[in-house]
Amino acid sequence: MDKVDFIYLSQEEILDLNIPMSKIIELVEQGLYEHGHKRVENPPKPGIHSKPDAFIHAMPAYYQKLGIGGLKWVSGYPTNRKLGLPQIAGLMLVNDMETGMPLAVMDCRWITAVRTAAVSAITAKYCAKKDTTSLGVVGCGVQGRMNIVALKEVIPDLHDVGVFDINSEAMKRYKEDFETELDVSIKPAKSVKEAVDGKDMILTATQRLPEPLVKNEWFKPGCLGFGLEASRAWYGDAILECDKFVTDSWDQTVYFYEHGAFPDGLPTLHAELGEVVAGVKPGRESDKERILAINIGLALEDVIVADYIYKVAKDGDHQRLTLMESDF
Ligand SMILES: NC(=O)c1ccc[n+]([C@@H]2O[C@H](COP(=O)([O-])OP(=O)(O)OC[C@H]3O[C@@H](n4cnc5c(N)ncnc54)[C@H](O)[C@@H]3O)[C@@H](O)[C@H]2O)c1
Repeated sequence: MDKVDFIYLSQEEILDLNIPMSKIIELVEQGLYEHGHKRVENPPKPGIHSKPDAFIHAMPAYYQKLGIGGLKWVSGYPTNRKLGLPQIAGLMLVNDMETGMPLAVMDCRWITAVRTAAVSAITAKYCAKKDTTSLGVVGCGVQGRMNIVALKEVIPDLHDVGVFDINSEAMKRYKEDFETELDVSIKPAKSVKEAVDGKDMILTATQRLPEPLVKNEWFKPGCLGFGLEASRAWYGDAILECDKFVTDSWDQTVYFYEHGAFPDGLPTLHAELGEVVAGVKPGRESDKERILAINIGLALEDVIVADYIYKVAKDGDHQRLTLMESDF
């Protein structure tokens, strides 16, 4: 029996590969296209829960046509920050789909951050109205930051950005970091309303909300809304009265509903994002539609990015770990 080994990549080694957001968007779009054609095995995430509000989820996916497969084992512990630890952490595994052998083990935090923003960008590509130039962001943390970078990739005319965060330092950093880099005007606001009312796109990326933030009346005709917190930041009437409700996973949406999300009821599904990308169902059809996207996050989005990272890194100077030397 031959020796079996795999490569190990830390977060820093992944960052050093300098993979641009445009590549992440391309990969995730390809993944969603396969999903829309029902060529991906992506079972619901099983998880364990050692504390209230905390989870560790197993997220496997296999692309039948592309021959790509792997697993994300990701934890979310909201109180970690106090301990100087990241809230989201974990590992990705990439496997050989001919033999099942592990090919790579790598950090999953950066992959999670960029693939989530890429999903928003792909949603915007198909569901934003044509003359979109403005965006309201609530929550200037990891996702608020990644999402503006990804959205600018697909909407180069984006130039008017309102932001609100309960942490004024986070808003200040957001303006300093992105105004010049992305060539957009960023206006820190004093309220959610000031940041989002009447914007072409509204994106919420907050944490642990006692009550929703975005009112139906601020979600104007033609707007594309994104709720990254699985419904919690949007008032029930905004969710239920939108013209089209889109998500990357209806199964996961229903699962979240059964566990307390969407307290005012589930909206009617217009389409899964993969179906829109695959051309099975339309995205935006009129400049007046209010479209709300609540993308939950699918393993297939992580696995296609991890597989690409493996392929880029596999011949480089990275640590190889031995799984076994020989038969026992
Ligand atoms: N759908 C997915 O696939 C996916 C993937 C990753 C993260 N998420 C979700 O995205 C959300 C944001 O994650 P993150 O990693 O950016 O978190 P983060 O902690 O880095 O940032 C959250 C930001 O929201 C701000 N905030 C909190 N409450 C607020 C309020 N009431 N009003 C305004 N701002 C407020 C915080 O100050 C912080 O700056 C979380 O709910 C997370 O679960 C979703």
